[in-house]
Amino acid sequence: MSSLFRSRLSKKFDDRTARFHTSVVEDLRMFEYDIEGTEAHDIMLHEQGVIPAEALSEILNALEEIKQEWKDGKLEIGAEYEDVHEYIEGRVIEKIGVEVGGMVHTGRSRNDQVMVDMKMVTRAELLEIAEALSKLIETILKVADGHMESHMILYTHGQQAQIGTFAHYLVNYADALLRDYERLRACYDRVNMNPLGAGPIGGTNIRLNRLRTSELLGFDRIQENSIDATSGRDWAVETAFVCACLMGNISRAAADIVLWHTKEFGYVELSDEYSSSSSIMPQKKNPSTIELIRGKTGEVYGALIELMTMVKGVPTGYYQDLQQTKVALWRALDTTRTSVEVFTGAVATMTVNTDAMYAAAENSSIGALEIAERLIESGLSFREAYKVTAEVVKVAVDGGKTLKELTRDDVVAKVKEVTGRDVDVSSSIIEKATDPKEALDAKRSPGSAHPGEMGRMVEERKEVLGRHVKDLDFLKIKITIGKDNLKNALNQYRLK
Ligand code: ARG
Repeated sequence: MSSLFRSRLSKKFDDRTARFHTSVVEDLRMFEYDIEGTEAHDIMLHEQGVIPAEALSEILNALEEIKQEWKDGKLEIGAEYEDVHEYIEGRVIEKIGVEVGGMVHTGRSRNDQVMVDMKMVTRAELLEIAEALSKLIETILKVADGHMESHMILYTHGQQAQIGTFAHYLVNYADALLRDYERLRACYDRVNMNPLGAGPIGGTNIRLNRLRTSELLGFDRIQENSIDATSGRDWAVETAFVCACLMGNISRAAADIVLWHTKEFGYVELSDEYSSSSSIMPQKKNPSTIELIRGKTGEVYGALIELMTMVKGVPTGYYQDLQQTKVALWRALDTTRTSVEVFTGAVATMTVNTDAMYAAAENSSIGALEIAERLIESGLSFREAYKVTAEVVKVAVDGGKTLKELTRDDVVAKVKEVTGRDVDVSSSIIEKATDPKEALDAKRSPGSAHPGEMGRMVEERKEVLGRHVKDLDFLKIKITIGKDNLKNALNQYRLK
């Protein structure tokens, strides 16, 4: 088939330039959406009195045939086509002739067409990621339920800091991921706006009904300004950012898991299905799937930077640069979805070694702040208590002991030395401060690891997630309604 779009030109692309220029490869995932967009547009044109009933019927039949051929895997689309838009219009014309088939592209440009296709792919992918993400959050909350009293050291600077629980740790990620979910949801509304009908940049003389195509394609609203609808790619950048931010969060958790999977920590062990071994060291059990999540985060960040760089210098209006945005956008969406799915499986099946966590907490020096806070109860100012405790820690370090091995007398002596006062220090101060259970029970601030507080927090998160899942079902129903609208119109206008 000769090119549809080169009538003004006297030479073809040479083969190398054609391969360089074409977008058919990245367009393939838009194939069916492109057909649906064309069907909606042409149905609307008929309803507006632009395409006669007979012609519409022929066009729709041809489009449906092409869709079936595509589904049956019968089509091969080479670099001789600039894109899937040219291919499909060309095939319609091949099937029913240019007199009727040539009406297909009336009042439309590839510039609004490609935006419709990209948005339909993106919104479907966003819903898939939303679903995967909701399952990940659900999994995290379920695991948290079983670890309200799994005492664990919390670290800052990689150093032992304070007492927490594994549930406390997990809810921290549930919260970050719920924010990712909310970002995705807000982004979805900005993606799901219909650019169709914007023409190349400035609209068309034909009285289009843009609300009707929105209804047939399941868009919530119109992306009104024709310049914005064809030029703007901020929604794609935002989508990539949502993906990047989400990946950044699971990548941090991945870093913890990789560390905790070491023999030295031994806090967690991945199920074999999510582990690999070594080609030479048979003892190895590598948390490689989790390492890959961290690695692939770089890929998604790359896609975001790629998109932002591609669009920043493009003047207003369509330029071919924008064709390339699809490649980065698809990569961000694909990698994010698969990463979230794999991560969910790994978390759901991993073993948590609560004994190792407890033993580490028991033999640590995280009781220091506990001592200080108990001294505040005895009437010291915080800074006094801090200085006393630092001296107590030095006694332990110099004597090669753990905090647990010190006595109340060590504390009393240091109180006197630092403050010059005789203070009534609780008789069990060392025992209570260095016992992880006592330390945990003493936590009172909202958001800390106290099991009662954490129980409340997990329940509240489950409720929030439940609302998101309902809303997600609603979004899916709206897409189905769009599909049904198109199906009904196809049945109405395809004369047998
Ligand atoms: N293949 C193009 C893309 O993916 C479609 C839009 C082309 N528009 C144009 N005026 N050449 O962006």
